[in-house]
Amino acid sequence: MRTVRVNLGSNSYDILIGAGLLAEAGKFLKDAGFSGKVVIVTDSIVKGLHAGALEQGLKREGFQTVTLEVPVGEEHKSLETAGRLYKELSDFHAERNTPILALGGGVIGDLTGFVAATYLRGVPLVQVPTTLLAQVDSGIGGKVALDYGTLKNKIGAFYQPKLVIADIATLKTLPARQLLSGLAEVIKYAVIRDRELLTYIEERLDMIKSLDAAALEEIIYRSARIKAEVVEKDERDTGVRNILNYGHTIGHAIESVSDFQIAHGEAVAIGMVAAARISNKLGMLGEDELNRLTRVIERTGLPTEPPKLNLAEIIKAMGHDKKIISGRVRFVLPRKIGEVIVTDEVNQSQVEKVLAE
Ligand SMILES: NC(=O)c1ccc[n+]([C@@H]2O[C@H](COP(=O)([O-])OP(=O)(O)OC[C@H]3O[C@@H](n4cnc5c(N)ncnc54)[C@H](O)[C@@H]3O)[C@@H](O)[C@H]2O)c1
Ligand SMILES: [Zn+2]
Repeated sequence: MRTVRVNLGSNSYDILIGAGLLAEAGKFLKDAGFSGKVVIVTDSIVKGLHAGALEQGLKREGFQTVTLEVPVGEEHKSLETAGRLYKELSDFHAERNTPILALGGGVIGDLTGFVAATYLRGVPLVQVPTTLLAQVDSGIGGKVALDYGTLKNKIGAFYQPKLVIADIATLKTLPARQLLSGLAEVIKYAVIRDRELLTYIEERLDMIKSLDAAALEEIIYRSARIKAEVVEKDERDTGVRNILNYGHTIGHAIESVSDFQIAHGEAVAIGMVAAARISNKLGMLGEDELNRLTRVIERTGLPTEPPKLNLAEIIKAMGHDKKIISGRVRFVLPRKIGEVIVTDEVNQSQVEKVLAE
């Protein structure tokens, strides 16, 4: 097992990464100072696959558990579902010190986190991420949110978990497309901060794709470490946390114009290559590094080229991205692999050129 500490003063916490951790969850919660009741929130797919192991791991250490089930899908990351969960927490007599465990992907993590942040003005949250994306990204950093109509992720809070338990054994049941989507975020971390991680992925891509435990542990550990470091510097997302949006400016636009037919990670992969090309055109990222990045993304099976979507719509959607400041679209561009800059000096015609090529 590997541990990453997130240092945020009195809100500090550990991220535990390893295979088979669900079975030991009771021990980890005890070590974190909890006892008595715990609530698990999960979705109907993850419940059937992994809730049993977590419940047993908790009961073994004397915890009393109740598992609340949410239907699968982003559309349930809603105020309506939150309302239902508040009611169920109240029926279970959850108290101020009753921890709520979010067992699932980013949807469950965001929803449960929001409920934990607001129920009784805040009850302890434990993230138990079961997708690669949630283990390296959404489960860490304390951004919790709901969607409301077209306001995606706009009703939320900064609310750090007390603990993150990332059991890599849960990834064995994850559909391949979901794994790839998470891998796009791992590649993102390599490009923004960790050259060695890119080399590691290049050398061990087959092991990663076949879910070799040591390889998964290594890439998740390195990714979590980078996310933790960035969050430590900028918990409230007013500065350096921006770099985590590498590949997301164009990615979000493609995702939304495709009407979410293109998965998040796929769109981010396309966005990372596009941003790298823009950087290359601006004389920053060298041709060899651009090719190296494109090649590794291709080898994973993620797309590198934008699909046939309306270019004007993509450009327009970029304007709607929340990362714009004073009317200019903000880009994260790699200067070299392992180092990025944030700029709003990219003009529309440069973006159009790269996307049209
Ligand atoms: N809070 C943040 O910082 C942050 C960051 C990135 C993304 N997000 C949010 O995360 C969400 C996406 O998360 P996601 O990609 O994990 O999607 P998800 O939570 O929808 O999970 C994807 C699918 O995989 C299933 N699943 C989960 N774990 C499984 C497992 N181990 N085996 C088999 N199936 C499993 C789920 O039931 C679901 O059908 C979005 O709502 C996004 O807004 C939040
Ligand atoms: Zn992302």
